[in-house]
Amino acid sequence: MRHLISPLDFSVEELDKLLTLANDIEKNPEKYSEACKGKKLATLFYEPSTRTRLSFEAAMMNLGGNVLGFSEATSSSAAKGESVADTIQIISCYADIAAMRHPKEGAALVAANNSAIPVINAGDGGHQHPTQTLTDLLTIRSLKGRLDNVTIGLCGDLKFGRTVHSLINALLRYDNVKFVLISPAELKVPKYIIEHIEAAGAQYEEVTKLEEVIGNLDLLYMTRVQKERFFNEEDYIRLKDSFILDKKKMRLAKDDMLVLHPLPRVNEISVEVDKDPRAVYFKQAQYGVYVRMALILTLLEVEVC
Ligand code: CP
Repeated sequence: MRHLISPLDFSVEELDKLLTLANDIEKNPEKYSEACKGKKLATLFYEPSTRTRLSFEAAMMNLGGNVLGFSEATSSSAAKGESVADTIQIISCYADIAAMRHPKEGAALVAANNSAIPVINAGDGGHQHPTQTLTDLLTIRSLKGRLDNVTIGLCGDLKFGRTVHSLINALLRYDNVKFVLISPAELKVPKYIIEHIEAAGAQYEEVTKLEEVIGNLDLLYMTRVQKERFFNEEDYIRLKDSFILDKKKMRLAKDDMLVLHPLPRVNEISVEVDKDPRAVYFKQAQYGVYVRMALILTLLEVEVC
């Protein structure tokens, strides 16, 4: 039995197969519409979510399966003090596969270690968000045509942004990926991620001004400042509007640069950018359904001919 806890749990070859399956699902949805008939997905969300939870549920429904779960800790027995380890043992009696989001780093791993069914990490604190990474990789590969030989700018809250940490780790496995890390000094990428980049021998630079580097980028990955991870509201208010991508800055970018964002957006991308053909963040959310369908099929070992 396999789980997905880190974006590195799949080899590059396995990832390639998964992304190809997701592209086939996009082209031939009817072929997969009964693939998980009789199977159940449990969504265990101890933290708020729109895209991840609902795209998992849509993915299982698109595969002909059913869903059950909770969308906040207060409506589960976690509110009475039940541990993640106990909860997942119970859920293993009710469902065939589980997707879990939790505010504590490592919670999904604890669940996997105590589970009789595959566990998918749907975000653990400021640590990892592997299914967002699968979504990002599918979006880049489908719309850019490659995952290697790209210069990617990651902009915003690079300290707390778990999607950034997961995406950097995933892209480090491809050739000639250059990272431009754009953040205020207080929200820089954690040291352990920089150590991963250096150990992989990849090129990177850390800068504070988006407009000075946007013209060099093939991909721009915008992120929001993660209010929920700040200890001090004053710091959040000071930093929340550090970067705002608008039409003026987009004029400095390459004609084929793609703008991604895991969403939700707050102020960091002006709505005037949404109509720019280079803005692909809403398409990215759609790719999230296809890739989660592919992931469910893969972890449940369901083959569709
Ligand atoms: N991208 C993402 O994780 O969005 P949600 O928090 O809405 O799930």
